[in-house]
Amino acid sequence: MKRAKVTVVGGGFVGSTAAHWIASKELADVVLIDINGDMAAGKALDLAQSGPVEGFDADVQGSSDYSLSANSDVVIITAGLPRKPGMSRDDLLLTNAKIVRECAQNAAKHSPNAVLIIVSNPLDAMCHVALEASGFPKERVIGMAGVLDGARFRTFIARELDVSVEDVDAFVYGGHGDTMVPMPRYVTVGGIPLPQLLPKDKIDALVSRTAKGGAEIVGLLKTGSAYYAPSSSAVQMAEAIIKDKKRILPCACYLSGEFGVKDLYVGVLAKIGSKGIEQIMPIEMNDEEKALFLKSASAVQELVDVLKKN
Ligand code: LAC
Repeated sequence: MKRAKVTVVGGGFVGSTAAHWIASKELADVVLIDINGDMAAGKALDLAQSGPVEGFDADVQGSSDYSLSANSDVVIITAGLPRKPGMSRDDLLLTNAKIVRECAQNAAKHSPNAVLIIVSNPLDAMCHVALEASGFPKERVIGMAGVLDGARFRTFIARELDVSVEDVDAFVYGGHGDTMVPMPRYVTVGGIPLPQLLPKDKIDALVSRTAKGGAEIVGLLKTGSAYYAPSSSAVQMAEAIIKDKKRILPCACYLSGEFGVKDLYVGVLAKIGSKGIEQIMPIEMNDEEKALFLKSASAVQELVDVLKKN
């Protein structure tokens, strides 16, 4: 069987940890691209040398040269600045737009059939940049955020109930920012709806902690943002694509009228397979959920408007 190939652009914490998950799970051969080519080559060689110990067969290479990334099945773009304490993801907009534009152009040139997974912040706006720069169809440019925000929500719920994280199913809608919309009505714990297990004030507290989940980690790390859960979330999406699993995952998707949102990337549940986004899942939102979702979409729209003016 031909091995899949995944390129990770950006050799920082998120990118190199993504490379680590991919290689250690033997999902694909990995190419790590960074403007600092020696750093990328060094991390790649170091990771490859853990293969004999951990027992995985995956080729891992690093460089600043995109030709090494040629014909990747999936390209994960993590390049860009992370936020520092006190910054919102939106403060990174123009700096990261420049970086993501260049990365997406180069990646698309060498891997014209790849699916792009965008991780750089502010996430939803960066998906617009990558869509335009790559010239790819909207199905093949997907943003990673919902899996991460959902994972944070699942972790908090599991801790609150003292149950396995594996038995908690939860997802988050909307933009990857302060206005994100965790959907507690749809959370199940071993199949039991969450509202049967926790009172509303407890659920509200978990929802609020989830929405601020990234900032909580930035506040603790002080020098950057989260990377273990963001990278594993991106890799779960890559796995769904490589193995054509048709998983139902919350992702930033380009909406064309679904849920009353048009021409905008926002987080929704989607079916993810080898073609990228294969279906936006229909879901019923009550009035409150819809209002929160549209408010979150308008926060993303504001950033996209700023991008258009610059
Ligand atoms: C976070 C960053 C990666 O939510 O957006 O931690």
